[in-house]
Amino acid sequence: MPRIAASQRSLYTECLEVSGTNFLSGEIHINGAKNSALALMAASLLTDDTIFLENVPDLTDIKVMSKLLNYIGISTQQNSHTFQLNAKQIANKELPSSLVNALRASFFCIGPLLARLGEVRIPLPGGCKIGHRPIDEHIRGLKALGAFVSINDGTVIAKLPPSEKTLKGTCIKFNCQSVGATETTLMAATLAEGRTILENAAQEPEIQDLAKMLNSMGAKVKGAGTKTIIIDGVTKLNGCHHKVIPDRIEAGTFLIAAAITRSTLTIKPVTPEHLEAVIQKLRDCGCEIEVNNDNLTIIPKLITAVDITTEPYPGFPTDLQAPFMALMATAKGNSIIKETIFERRMQHVGELQKMGALIDLQGNTAFIKGVSKLVGKSISAGDLRSSAALVLASLSAKGKSNIQGVNYLDRGYEKMENKLNNVGANIIRAHRKIDSFASKSYKNKSHFLNESFSEKEKEVA
Ligand code: EPZ
Repeated sequence: MPRIAASQRSLYTECLEVSGTNFLSGEIHINGAKNSALALMAASLLTDDTIFLENVPDLTDIKVMSKLLNYIGISTQQNSHTFQLNAKQIANKELPSSLVNALRASFFCIGPLLARLGEVRIPLPGGCKIGHRPIDEHIRGLKALGAFVSINDGTVIAKLPPSEKTLKGTCIKFNCQSVGATETTLMAATLAEGRTILENAAQEPEIQDLAKMLNSMGAKVKGAGTKTIIIDGVTKLNGCHHKVIPDRIEAGTFLIAAAITRSTLTIKPVTPEHLEAVIQKLRDCGCEIEVNNDNLTIIPKLITAVDITTEPYPGFPTDLQAPFMALMATAKGNSIIKETIFERRMQHVGELQKMGALIDLQGNTAFIKGVSKLVGKSISAGDLRSSAALVLASLSAKGKSNIQGVNYLDRGYEKMENKLNNVGANIIRAHRKIDSFASKSYKNKSHFLNESFSEKEKEVA
Protein backbone atom coordinates (compact mmCIF):
# COMPACT_ATOMS: atom_id res chain seq x y z
CA MET A 1 0.00 0.00 0.00
CA PRO A 2 1.57 3.35 -1.02
CA ARG A 3 2.79 5.44 1.91
CA ILE A 4 0.91 8.72 2.25
CA ALA A 5 2.70 11.81 3.52
CA ALA A 6 1.55 12.78 7.01
CA SER A 7 0.35 16.16 5.75
CA GLN A 8 -1.90 14.42 3.21
CA ARG A 9 -3.34 11.74 5.49
CA SER A 10 -6.50 13.63 6.37
CA LEU A 11 -7.42 13.69 2.66
CA TYR A 12 -7.53 9.90 2.59
CA THR A 13 -9.60 7.29 4.31
CA GLU A 14 -8.80 3.59 4.63
CA CYS A 15 -11.19 1.23 2.94
CA LEU A 16 -11.46 -2.44 2.09
CA GLU A 17 -11.93 -3.56 -1.50
CA VAL A 18 -13.66 -6.95 -1.44
CA SER A 19 -14.14 -9.09 -4.55
CA GLY A 20 -17.03 -11.41 -3.87
CA THR A 21 -18.21 -14.94 -4.36
CA ASN A 22 -14.92 -16.73 -3.55
CA PHE A 23 -15.35 -19.99 -1.70
CA LEU A 24 -13.28 -20.18 1.49
CA SER A 25 -11.52 -23.18 2.95
CA GLY A 26 -9.11 -23.90 5.78
CA GLU A 27 -8.72 -22.77 9.36
CA ILE A 28 -9.11 -19.37 11.04
CA HIS A 29 -7.33 -18.50 14.30
CA ILE A 30 -9.39 -16.72 16.97
CA ASN A 31 -7.74 -14.10 19.20
CA GLY A 32 -8.44 -13.27 22.83
CA ALA A 33 -11.75 -11.62 23.68
CA LYS A 34 -11.72 -7.81 23.33
CA ASN A 35 -14.57 -7.38 25.83
CA SER A 36 -12.77 -9.52 28.39
CA ALA A 37 -9.32 -8.00 27.91
CA LEU A 38 -10.64 -4.44 28.40
CA ALA A 39 -12.20 -5.30 31.78
CA LEU A 40 -9.14 -7.32 32.85
CA MET A 41 -6.90 -4.34 32.01
CA ALA A 42 -9.11 -2.11 34.18
CA ALA A 43 -8.87 -4.67 37.00
CA SER A 44 -5.08 -4.24 37.07
CA LEU A 45 -5.80 -0.98 38.92
CA LEU A 46 -6.89 -3.01 41.97
CA THR A 47 -3.35 -4.01 42.97
CA ASP A 48 0.12 -2.49 43.16
CA ASP A 49 1.62 -5.80 41.99
CA THR A 50 2.17 -6.78 38.37
CA ILE A 51 -0.55 -8.44 36.26
CA PHE A 52 0.61 -10.60 33.32
CA LEU A 53 -2.17 -10.81 30.72
CA GLU A 54 -1.75 -13.32 27.88
CA ASN A 55 -3.75 -13.67 24.65
CA VAL A 56 -4.63 -9.97 24.50
CA PRO A 57 -5.85 -9.11 20.98
CA ASP A 58 -4.01 -6.45 18.97
CA LEU A 59 -6.87 -3.96 18.48
CA THR A 60 -7.38 -0.21 18.45
CA ASP A 61 -9.58 -0.43 21.55
CA ILE A 62 -6.80 -2.19 23.46
CA LYS A 63 -4.33 0.52 22.38
CA VAL A 64 -6.68 3.24 23.64
CA MET A 65 -7.22 1.44 26.96
CA SER A 66 -3.46 1.04 27.33
CA LYS A 67 -2.93 4.76 26.70
CA LEU A 68 -5.64 5.58 29.24
CA LEU A 69 -3.99 3.40 31.89
CA ASN A 70 -0.63 5.03 31.13
CA TYR A 71 -2.30 8.40 31.65
CA ILE A 72 -3.52 7.26 35.07
CA GLY A 73 0.03 6.13 35.88
CA ILE A 74 -0.05 2.41 35.11
CA SER A 75 3.11 1.06 33.52
CA THR A 76 2.31 -1.23 30.60
CA GLN A 77 4.72 -3.40 28.64
CA GLN A 78 3.51 -5.29 25.59
CA ASN A 79 5.23 -8.21 23.94
CA SER A 80 3.10 -9.39 21.04
CA HIS A 81 -0.17 -10.58 22.66
CA THR A 82 1.10 -10.44 26.25
CA PHE A 83 0.75 -7.37 28.48
CA GLN A 84 2.44 -6.59 31.77
CA LEU A 85 0.51 -4.02 33.80
CA ASN A 86 1.61 -2.45 37.08
CA ALA A 87 -0.45 0.12 38.99
CA LYS A 88 2.02 0.86 41.78
CA GLN A 89 2.22 4.54 40.90
CA ILE A 90 -1.26 5.88 40.25
CA ALA A 91 -0.73 9.53 39.36
CA ASN A 92 -4.13 10.72 38.17
CA LYS A 93 -7.47 10.36 39.92
CA GLU A 94 -9.13 12.25 37.05
CA LEU A 95 -9.54 10.76 33.59
CA PRO A 96 -9.61 13.03 30.49
CA SER A 97 -12.78 13.20 28.42
CA SER A 98 -11.05 12.64 25.07
CA LEU A 99 -9.86 9.21 26.21
CA VAL A 100 -13.13 8.24 27.92
CA ASN A 101 -15.12 9.38 24.87
CA ALA A 102 -12.83 7.37 22.61
CA LEU A 103 -13.54 4.17 24.48
CA ARG A 104 -16.64 3.50 26.58
CA ALA A 105 -14.93 0.62 28.37
CA SER A 106 -12.58 3.12 30.01
CA PHE A 107 -15.52 3.97 32.28
CA PHE A 108 -15.06 0.53 33.84
CA CYS A 109 -12.00 2.03 35.62
CA ILE A 110 -14.32 3.88 38.00
CA GLY A 111 -14.88 0.86 40.26
CA PRO A 112 -11.24 -0.18 40.71
CA LEU A 113 -10.02 3.41 41.09
CA LEU A 114 -12.65 4.16 43.73
CA ALA A 115 -11.83 0.98 45.65
CA ARG A 116 -8.08 1.65 45.44
CA LEU A 117 -7.88 5.45 45.91
CA GLY A 118 -11.14 6.31 47.65
CA GLU A 119 -11.92 8.99 45.04
CA VAL A 120 -12.16 9.21 41.24
CA ARG A 121 -13.42 11.66 38.61
CA ILE A 122 -14.44 10.28 35.20
CA PRO A 123 -16.27 12.14 32.44
CA LEU A 124 -19.64 10.70 31.47
CA PRO A 125 -18.86 8.27 28.62
CA GLY A 126 -21.84 9.56 26.68
CA GLY A 127 -23.82 7.76 24.07
CA CYS A 128 -22.40 6.29 20.91
CA LYS A 129 -23.44 5.13 17.47
CA ILE A 130 -25.48 2.20 18.80
CA GLY A 131 -27.38 3.88 21.58
CA HIS A 132 -27.65 6.15 24.58
CA ARG A 133 -25.47 3.84 26.73
CA PRO A 134 -26.51 5.08 30.19
CA ILE A 135 -24.43 4.43 33.33
CA ASP A 136 -27.17 4.69 35.95
CA GLU A 137 -26.69 1.04 37.01
CA HIS A 138 -22.94 1.59 37.48
CA ILE A 139 -23.73 4.54 39.77
CA ARG A 140 -26.42 2.59 41.65
CA GLY A 141 -23.89 -0.16 42.34
CA LEU A 142 -21.23 2.19 43.68
CA LYS A 143 -23.73 4.13 45.80
CA ALA A 144 -25.01 0.85 47.26
CA LEU A 145 -21.41 0.08 48.29
CA GLY A 146 -21.41 3.32 50.28
CA ALA A 147 -19.81 5.76 47.84
CA PHE A 148 -20.95 9.37 47.40
CA VAL A 149 -21.51 9.72 43.64
CA SER A 150 -22.44 12.98 41.94
CA ILE A 151 -22.39 14.27 38.38
CA ASN A 152 -21.11 17.81 37.96
CA ASP A 153 -20.78 19.42 34.60
CA GLY A 154 -20.54 16.11 32.74
CA THR A 155 -18.07 14.53 35.17
CA VAL A 156 -18.90 11.65 37.50
CA ILE A 157 -17.31 12.20 40.91
CA ALA A 158 -17.23 9.16 43.20
CA LYS A 159 -15.69 9.21 46.65
CA LEU A 160 -15.78 7.45 50.00
CA PRO A 161 -17.54 9.20 52.91
CA PRO A 162 -14.93 11.23 54.87
CA SER A 163 -15.11 8.88 57.85
CA GLU A 164 -14.69 5.70 55.83
CA LYS A 165 -11.53 3.98 54.61
CA THR A 166 -13.26 1.34 52.44
CA LEU A 167 -16.49 0.61 50.61
CA LYS A 168 -19.00 -1.53 52.52
CA GLY A 169 -20.44 -4.84 51.33
CA THR A 170 -24.18 -4.83 50.59
CA CYS A 171 -26.94 -6.41 48.50
CA ILE A 172 -27.59 -4.91 45.04
CA LYS A 173 -30.35 -5.99 42.66
CA PHE A 174 -29.68 -4.54 39.21
CA ASN A 175 -32.64 -3.18 37.24
CA CYS A 176 -31.21 -4.67 34.04
CA GLN A 177 -28.53 -7.21 33.19
CA SER A 178 -25.69 -4.83 32.36
CA VAL A 179 -22.26 -6.28 31.54
CA GLY A 180 -20.43 -3.07 32.41
CA ALA A 181 -22.36 -2.31 35.59
CA THR A 182 -21.83 -5.88 36.82
CA GLU A 183 -18.07 -5.59 36.13
CA THR A 184 -17.76 -2.12 37.71
CA THR A 185 -19.54 -3.20 40.90
CA LEU A 186 -17.85 -6.60 41.05
CA MET A 187 -14.39 -5.03 40.88
CA ALA A 188 -15.23 -2.40 43.51
CA ALA A 189 -16.72 -5.02 45.86
CA THR A 190 -13.54 -7.13 45.92
CA LEU A 191 -11.90 -4.54 48.23
CA ALA A 192 -15.06 -3.63 50.16
CA GLU A 193 -15.44 -4.56 53.84
CA GLY A 194 -17.79 -7.52 54.20
CA ARG A 195 -20.01 -9.48 51.81
CA THR A 196 -21.63 -8.11 48.65
CA ILE A 197 -24.39 -9.94 46.79
CA LEU A 198 -25.14 -8.88 43.20
CA GLU A 199 -28.57 -9.96 41.97
CA ASN A 200 -29.79 -9.87 38.36
CA ALA A 201 -26.12 -9.74 37.39
CA ALA A 202 -25.09 -10.15 33.76
CA GLN A 203 -23.88 -13.71 33.00
CA GLU A 204 -21.58 -13.13 30.03
CA PRO A 205 -18.40 -15.28 29.72
CA GLU A 206 -16.34 -12.09 29.96
CA ILE A 207 -17.65 -11.62 33.52
CA GLN A 208 -16.69 -15.20 34.36
CA ASP A 209 -13.21 -14.51 32.95
CA LEU A 210 -12.92 -11.35 35.07
CA ALA A 211 -13.99 -13.21 38.23
CA LYS A 212 -11.46 -15.95 37.49
CA MET A 213 -8.63 -13.41 37.29
CA LEU A 214 -9.85 -11.54 40.40
CA ASN A 215 -9.80 -14.83 42.34
CA SER A 216 -6.25 -15.47 41.07
CA MET A 217 -5.39 -12.07 42.56
CA GLY A 218 -6.76 -13.19 45.95
CA ALA A 219 -10.36 -12.01 45.68
CA LYS A 220 -13.26 -14.14 46.91
CA VAL A 221 -15.86 -14.22 44.15
CA LYS A 222 -18.46 -16.95 43.69
CA GLY A 223 -21.31 -17.37 41.20
CA ALA A 224 -19.92 -15.41 38.23
CA GLY A 225 -21.79 -16.58 35.14
CA THR A 226 -25.05 -16.84 37.07
CA LYS A 227 -27.49 -14.05 37.96
CA THR A 228 -26.26 -14.01 41.57
CA ILE A 229 -22.64 -13.20 42.37
CA ILE A 230 -21.28 -13.27 45.93
CA ILE A 231 -18.13 -11.33 46.81
CA ASP A 232 -16.41 -11.42 50.22
CA GLY A 233 -14.17 -8.37 50.39
CA VAL A 234 -10.45 -8.62 51.14
CA THR A 235 -7.97 -5.96 52.23
CA LYS A 236 -5.44 -6.44 49.42
CA LEU A 237 -5.15 -8.00 45.98
CA ASN A 238 -1.97 -9.35 44.42
CA GLY A 239 -0.52 -9.74 40.97
CA CYS A 240 -1.18 -12.83 38.82
CA HIS A 241 -0.83 -14.42 35.40
CA HIS A 242 -4.04 -14.72 33.38
CA LYS A 243 -4.90 -15.84 29.86
CA VAL A 244 -7.81 -14.07 28.14
CA ILE A 245 -10.61 -16.36 26.90
CA PRO A 246 -11.14 -16.74 23.12
CA ASP A 247 -13.32 -14.07 21.54
CA ARG A 248 -16.76 -15.62 21.05
CA ILE A 249 -17.92 -12.68 18.92
CA GLU A 250 -14.95 -12.94 16.56
CA ALA A 251 -15.52 -16.70 16.37
CA GLY A 252 -19.22 -16.20 15.63
CA THR A 253 -18.38 -13.65 12.95
CA PHE A 254 -16.13 -16.13 11.13
CA LEU A 255 -18.70 -18.93 11.49
CA ILE A 256 -21.15 -16.63 9.70
CA ALA A 257 -18.47 -15.84 7.08
CA ALA A 258 -18.37 -19.57 6.31
CA ALA A 259 -22.16 -19.79 6.16
CA ILE A 260 -22.63 -16.73 3.92
CA THR A 261 -20.01 -17.98 1.41
CA ARG A 262 -21.33 -21.56 1.67
CA SER A 263 -17.80 -22.65 2.64
CA THR A 264 -16.47 -25.25 5.06
CA LEU A 265 -14.18 -23.65 7.64
CA THR A 266 -12.58 -24.62 10.94
CA ILE A 267 -12.46 -21.94 13.64
CA LYS A 268 -10.08 -22.29 16.61
CA PRO A 269 -9.49 -21.89 19.49
CA VAL A 270 -13.03 -21.39 20.78
CA THR A 271 -14.98 -22.21 23.95
CA PRO A 272 -18.01 -23.96 22.43
CA GLU A 273 -20.30 -23.37 25.40
CA HIS A 274 -19.83 -19.61 24.95
CA LEU A 275 -21.38 -19.94 21.49
CA GLU A 276 -24.35 -22.24 22.16
CA ALA A 277 -27.06 -19.80 21.04
CA VAL A 278 -25.11 -18.92 17.88
CA ILE A 279 -24.31 -22.54 17.03
CA GLN A 280 -27.98 -23.45 17.48
CA LYS A 281 -29.17 -20.69 15.12
CA LEU A 282 -26.59 -21.66 12.49
CA ARG A 283 -27.71 -25.29 12.73
CA ASP A 284 -31.37 -24.16 12.52
CA CYS A 285 -30.65 -22.29 9.28
CA GLY A 286 -28.93 -25.24 7.62
CA CYS A 287 -25.33 -25.58 8.77
CA GLU A 288 -23.71 -28.70 10.14
CA ILE A 289 -21.35 -27.76 12.97
CA GLU A 290 -18.86 -30.26 14.39
CA VAL A 291 -17.54 -29.50 17.88
CA ASN A 292 -14.08 -30.95 18.59
CA ASN A 293 -12.74 -29.73 21.97
CA ASP A 294 -11.60 -26.16 21.28
CA ASN A 295 -12.39 -26.04 17.60
CA LEU A 296 -15.52 -25.86 15.47
CA THR A 297 -15.93 -27.00 11.87
CA ILE A 298 -18.90 -25.52 10.01
CA ILE A 299 -20.32 -27.19 6.88
CA PRO A 300 -23.11 -25.06 5.36
CA LYS A 301 -25.87 -26.77 3.37
CA LEU A 302 -28.94 -24.95 2.00
CA ILE A 303 -29.22 -21.76 4.09
CA THR A 304 -32.85 -21.10 5.05
CA ALA A 305 -34.32 -18.14 6.96
CA VAL A 306 -34.57 -18.23 10.77
CA ASP A 307 -35.72 -15.53 13.21
CA ILE A 308 -33.52 -14.11 15.96
CA THR A 309 -34.12 -11.87 18.96
CA THR A 310 -31.05 -10.51 20.73
CA GLU A 311 -30.90 -11.12 24.48
CA PRO A 312 -28.44 -10.96 27.38
CA TYR A 313 -26.18 -14.04 27.63
CA PRO A 314 -26.87 -16.94 27.25
CA GLY A 315 -29.30 -15.64 24.60
CA PHE A 316 -28.31 -14.65 21.06
CA PRO A 317 -25.67 -11.88 21.42
CA THR A 318 -26.45 -8.37 20.19
CA ASP A 319 -22.86 -8.16 18.87
CA LEU A 320 -23.69 -10.78 16.22
CA GLN A 321 -27.04 -9.32 15.17
CA ALA A 322 -25.59 -7.34 12.26
CA PRO A 323 -23.39 -10.18 10.91
CA PHE A 324 -26.31 -12.60 11.15
CA MET A 325 -28.57 -10.17 9.28
CA ALA A 326 -26.10 -10.22 6.39
CA LEU A 327 -26.53 -14.00 6.31
CA MET A 328 -30.33 -13.81 6.42
CA ALA A 329 -30.26 -11.32 3.54
CA THR A 330 -29.12 -14.22 1.30
CA ALA A 331 -31.04 -17.04 2.98
CA LYS A 332 -34.01 -18.84 1.41
CA GLY A 333 -37.24 -17.42 2.83
CA ASN A 334 -38.33 -14.64 5.16
CA SER A 335 -36.86 -13.89 8.60
CA ILE A 336 -37.42 -11.44 11.44
CA ILE A 337 -34.54 -9.98 13.45
CA LYS A 338 -35.35 -8.11 16.66
CA GLU A 339 -32.71 -6.01 18.47
CA THR A 340 -33.70 -5.66 22.13
CA ILE A 341 -30.43 -4.53 23.78
CA PHE A 342 -29.47 -1.29 22.01
CA GLU A 343 -31.79 1.28 20.50
CA ARG A 344 -29.71 2.28 17.46
CA ARG A 345 -28.03 -0.89 16.27
CA MET A 346 -29.48 -1.12 12.76
CA GLN A 347 -27.07 1.11 10.81
CA HIS A 348 -26.06 -1.77 8.57
CA VAL A 349 -29.61 -2.08 7.17
CA GLY A 350 -29.30 0.87 4.77
CA GLU A 351 -25.94 -0.35 3.48
CA LEU A 352 -27.21 -3.91 2.97
CA GLN A 353 -30.21 -2.46 1.09
CA LYS A 354 -27.76 -0.68 -1.25
CA MET A 355 -26.37 -4.14 -2.07
CA GLY A 356 -29.85 -5.41 -2.96
CA ALA A 357 -31.01 -6.81 0.36
CA LEU A 358 -34.81 -6.76 0.82
CA ILE A 359 -35.21 -5.48 4.41
CA ASP A 360 -38.18 -3.65 5.88
CA LEU A 361 -37.06 -1.95 9.09
CA GLN A 362 -39.74 -1.05 11.63
CA GLY A 363 -38.14 0.44 14.74
CA ASN A 364 -35.67 -2.18 15.99
CA THR A 365 -37.27 -5.03 14.10
CA ALA A 366 -36.06 -5.98 10.62
CA PHE A 367 -38.28 -8.02 8.28
CA ILE A 368 -35.96 -9.69 5.76
CA LYS A 369 -36.81 -11.43 2.48
CA GLY A 370 -33.80 -13.44 1.34
CA VAL A 371 -32.41 -12.88 -2.16
CA SER A 372 -30.21 -15.26 -4.13
CA LYS A 373 -27.30 -12.84 -4.49
CA LEU A 374 -26.27 -9.41 -3.21
CA VAL A 375 -24.38 -7.03 -5.49
CA GLY A 376 -21.04 -5.43 -4.60
CA LYS A 377 -21.32 -1.67 -3.97
CA SER A 378 -19.51 1.27 -2.38
CA ILE A 379 -20.75 1.18 1.22
CA SER A 380 -19.71 2.59 4.57
CA ALA A 381 -19.78 1.25 8.11
CA GLY A 382 -21.16 3.23 11.04
CA ASP A 383 -19.98 1.07 13.95
CA LEU A 384 -17.86 -1.95 14.81
CA ARG A 385 -20.27 -4.81 14.25
CA SER A 386 -21.95 -3.18 11.24
CA SER A 387 -18.52 -3.01 9.59
CA ALA A 388 -18.11 -6.76 10.12
CA ALA A 389 -21.56 -7.37 8.62
CA LEU A 390 -20.63 -5.40 5.50
CA VAL A 391 -17.43 -7.41 5.04
CA LEU A 392 -19.42 -10.65 5.26
CA ALA A 393 -22.07 -9.39 2.84
CA SER A 394 -19.34 -8.33 0.38
CA LEU A 395 -17.68 -11.76 0.54
CA SER A 396 -20.85 -13.31 -0.90
CA ALA A 397 -21.84 -10.46 -3.27
CA LYS A 398 -21.40 -10.46 -7.02
CA GLY A 399 -18.63 -8.06 -8.08
CA LYS A 400 -16.48 -5.72 -6.03
CA SER A 401 -17.43 -3.81 -2.89
CA ASN A 402 -15.64 -0.80 -1.45
CA ILE A 403 -16.18 -0.55 2.30
CA GLN A 404 -15.32 2.67 4.14
CA GLY A 405 -15.08 2.86 7.94
CA VAL A 406 -12.26 0.35 8.36
CA ASN A 407 -11.26 2.14 11.58
CA TYR A 408 -14.40 0.69 13.16
CA LEU A 409 -13.44 -2.84 12.07
CA ASP A 410 -9.94 -2.49 13.56
CA ARG A 411 -11.48 -1.71 16.96
CA GLY A 412 -12.72 -5.28 17.36
CA TYR A 413 -11.12 -7.59 14.78
CA GLU A 414 -7.39 -8.27 14.57
CA LYS A 415 -6.21 -8.35 10.94
CA MET A 416 -9.62 -9.50 9.70
CA GLU A 417 -8.80 -9.20 6.01
CA ASN A 418 -5.54 -11.18 6.45
CA LYS A 419 -7.39 -14.01 8.20
CA LEU A 420 -10.02 -14.12 5.45
CA ASN A 421 -7.46 -13.88 2.61
CA ASN A 422 -5.56 -16.79 4.16
CA VAL A 423 -8.62 -18.99 3.56
CA GLY A 424 -9.31 -17.78 0.01
CA ALA A 425 -11.00 -14.37 0.17
CA ASN A 426 -9.90 -11.48 -2.05
CA ILE A 427 -9.71 -8.36 0.11
CA ILE A 428 -7.39 -5.40 -0.35
CA ARG A 429 -6.91 -2.65 2.25
CA ALA A 430 -6.57 0.58 0.30
CA HIS A 431 -6.50 4.32 0.84
CA ARG A 432 -9.16 6.30 -0.91
CA LYS A 433 -9.06 10.04 -1.46
CA ILE A 434 -12.13 11.56 0.12
CA ASP A 435 -13.89 14.30 -1.83
CA SER A 436 -13.36 17.95 -0.81
CA PHE A 437 -16.65 18.19 1.13
CA ALA A 438 -16.07 14.97 2.99
CA SER A 439 -12.44 15.85 3.64
CA LYS A 440 -13.50 19.04 5.42
CA SER A 441 -15.85 17.13 7.72
CA TYR A 442 -13.29 14.31 8.11
CA LYS A 443 -10.57 16.79 9.11
CA ASN A 444 -12.88 18.43 11.67
CA LYS A 445 -13.89 15.12 13.19
CA SER A 446 -11.55 14.23 16.04
CA HIS A 447 -10.08 10.87 15.12
CA PHE A 448 -9.64 9.41 18.56
CA LEU A 449 -6.21 7.92 18.12
CA ASN A 450 -4.56 10.78 16.33
CA GLU A 451 -6.26 14.09 16.75
CA SER A 452 -8.38 14.16 19.86
CA PHE A 453 -5.65 14.18 22.49
CA SER A 454 -4.76 17.45 24.18
CA GLU A 455 -1.05 18.31 24.12
CA LYS A 456 -0.61 16.66 27.56
CA GLU A 457 -2.41 13.53 26.49
CA LYS A 458 -0.33 13.42 23.32
CA GLU A 459 2.71 12.92 25.54
CA VAL A 460 1.08 9.70 26.68
CA ALA A 461 -0.55 8.69 23.43
C1 EPZ B 1 -20.80 -4.57 26.79
O1 EPZ B 1 -21.21 -3.22 26.69
C2 EPZ B 1 -19.93 -4.83 25.58
N1 EPZ B 1 -18.77 -3.94 25.62
C3 EPZ B 1 -20.74 -4.58 24.30
O2 EPZ B 1 -19.89 -4.89 23.19
C4 EPZ B 1 -21.94 -5.52 24.31
O3 EPZ B 1 -22.72 -5.29 23.16
C5 EPZ B 1 -22.78 -5.26 25.56
O4 EPZ B 1 -21.95 -5.44 26.74
C6 EPZ B 1 -23.97 -6.18 25.67
O5 EPZ B 1 -23.55 -7.50 25.68
C7 EPZ B 1 -17.73 -4.24 26.45
O6 EPZ B 1 -17.77 -5.20 27.20
C8 EPZ B 1 -16.55 -3.31 26.41
P1 EPZ B 1 -24.50 -3.26 28.87
P2 EPZ B 1 -21.93 -2.50 27.95
O7 EPZ B 1 -24.23 -2.38 30.03
O8 EPZ B 1 -21.41 -3.04 29.23
C9 EPZ B 1 -28.50 -0.85 29.49
C10 EPZ B 1 -18.98 -4.58 21.05
O9 EPZ B 1 -19.47 -4.43 19.92
N2 EPZ B 1 -27.79 -0.17 30.60
O10 EPZ B 1 -24.56 -4.73 29.08
O11 EPZ B 1 -21.87 -1.04 27.75
C11 EPZ B 1 -27.97 -0.41 28.14
O12 EPZ B 1 -28.64 0.75 27.70
C12 EPZ B 1 -19.60 -3.85 22.24
O13 EPZ B 1 -17.99 -5.30 21.31
C13 EPZ B 1 -28.52 0.67 31.45
O14 EPZ B 1 -29.72 0.86 31.27
O15 EPZ B 1 -23.43 -2.97 27.73
C14 EPZ B 1 -28.28 -1.58 27.26
O16 EPZ B 1 -29.62 -1.48 26.83
C15 EPZ B 1 -20.79 -2.99 21.87
N3 EPZ B 1 -27.86 1.29 32.47
C16 EPZ B 1 -28.18 -2.79 28.19
O17 EPZ B 1 -28.20 -2.26 29.52
C17 EPZ B 1 -26.52 1.09 32.68
O18 EPZ B 1 -25.98 1.67 33.65
C18 EPZ B 1 -26.93 -3.62 28.03
O19 EPZ B 1 -25.83 -2.76 28.15
C19 EPZ B 1 -25.81 0.24 31.82
C20 EPZ B 1 -26.47 -0.38 30.79
